Amino acid sequence: MQTTANRFQPGFANTPETDPTPLHVEGRFPDWLSGVLVRNGPGTFDLKHTRYRHWFDGLALLHSFAFADGAVTYTSRYLHSPAYHADMASGRISFRGFASDPCRSLFKRAMSLFTPTPEGMNANVNITRLGDNIIAMTETPMAIAFDPRTLETLRPYGYDDGREGTERLQGSVTTAHPHYDPSRRLAYNYLLHFGMQSRYQVIAIDGGTRRRLASIQTAHPAYIHSFGMTERYLILVEFPLVLPSPLTILLGDKPFIENYRWQPERGATFHIIDKENGSVAARAEADAFFAFHHINAFERDGEIVVDLSAYDDARLIDELRLDHLRSADPKITTGRLRRCRIPLSGGRATYETIGADAIELPRIHYRAHNGRAYRFAYGAGTRSADADFLNQLVKIDTETGAGVVWHEADCYPGEPVFVPTPDGRAEDDGVILSVVLDGAAGSSFLLALDAQTFTEIARARTPVPIPFGFHGQYFDL
Ligand code: CO
Repeated sequence: MQTTANRFQPGFANTPETDPTPLHVEGRFPDWLSGVLVRNGPGTFDLKHTRYRHWFDGLALLHSFAFADGAVTYTSRYLHSPAYHADMASGRISFRGFASDPCRSLFKRAMSLFTPTPEGMNANVNITRLGDNIIAMTETPMAIAFDPRTLETLRPYGYDDGREGTERLQGSVTTAHPHYDPSRRLAYNYLLHFGMQSRYQVIAIDGGTRRRLASIQTAHPAYIHSFGMTERYLILVEFPLVLPSPLTILLGDKPFIENYRWQPERGATFHIIDKENGSVAARAEADAFFAFHHINAFERDGEIVVDLSAYDDARLIDELRLDHLRSADPKITTGRLRRCRIPLSGGRATYETIGADAIELPRIHYRAHNGRAYRFAYGAGTRSADADFLNQLVKIDTETGAGVVWHEADCYPGEPVFVPTPDGRAEDDGVILSVVLDGAAGSSFLLALDAQTFTEIARARTPVPIPFGFHGQYFDL
């Protein structure tokens, strides 16, 4: 076991499951909060004989905070993926991950990324609802359905394209950030197919059936973690973090992301895809930059406005390696809210930076404002340029650039999930829910802020510290 000296070591430590436990509440969660916040992220970082190398590679641990009458009950359960069973049994890494790879004697490359099944399916990134299923997702296409009440793993979630003469879509990499369009009753995602001619496939998902909406060929696929959506369009941004040769990922044995190279001379390219017919409505070049997360996008006066949590380069990926995050003096860079404008009539994309605050793991009032004009973005951020990890929550007014922050000494908050007040009218009428690691106390708490004032209304301490996760969703069950 590696020893560490920084303030947030429980955030990257092996964590046991917690049986359903009522939490002591300080303050009061709103009475109308009666659903469940389910979060995903890694919970095991060290195996008996080896370690995962990157934050993104730890074994998925699901967390739930179930609300009823102001009370909250916490539960956590490991996702019983093939990777979980194989790695826990052997004490070694059995499948190729994002930045970790198996020892060669166990190497199962052909079973990891490039055949539809089986794969490790360590779906530790996000959670979404598709039809009647709640699924855990990662960036390989197979997801895992689980019970959001008990967190019990149910079954691999397979799409049923390929049946009844329909085409079975091929692809090895997707995003864990699908969009849902309630007016079309369709979800969207993208699926990257590697080959001599690789292609980005933009897909529409209806229940469990996927259909290819657009296909864009590329010789050098980019790493794309999420994409944007307006009422009419989907926005795929190719950052210059690319595969110089897709063959290295097909034939080589390096972890997934180590095949990619930062090549800023390529710049970034925005593809604007019409949801109606899959045509590329516009394509625009932009200065090189990198982002994991789109924040929102909308149409305005003949242009598409695309907001992202943007970085000058992709060094953050290396900064999220566990040996760095567990070191005595880690530092991370954090994104800034970049508003890009893409003219539909052609021409280069332009951008401006909004606000003075860093923002990552961004959220919005999704149901009412995704794809439309909006004002407020919420996120986790860093308080200073030399921050050791995400150490504050931020609310940015995208119209004025004004920022409001929540911060407490030695506290490290995760992604802030916005839950709207039922029948609320204002865009920010609701609560923010964030799991905070309290470095001084060596424990965690669920924090609720009034989303309008960004002031605390309640907190509930958990019986064990909760490791740093990625994304979660609130469901009314
Ligand atoms: Co993400």
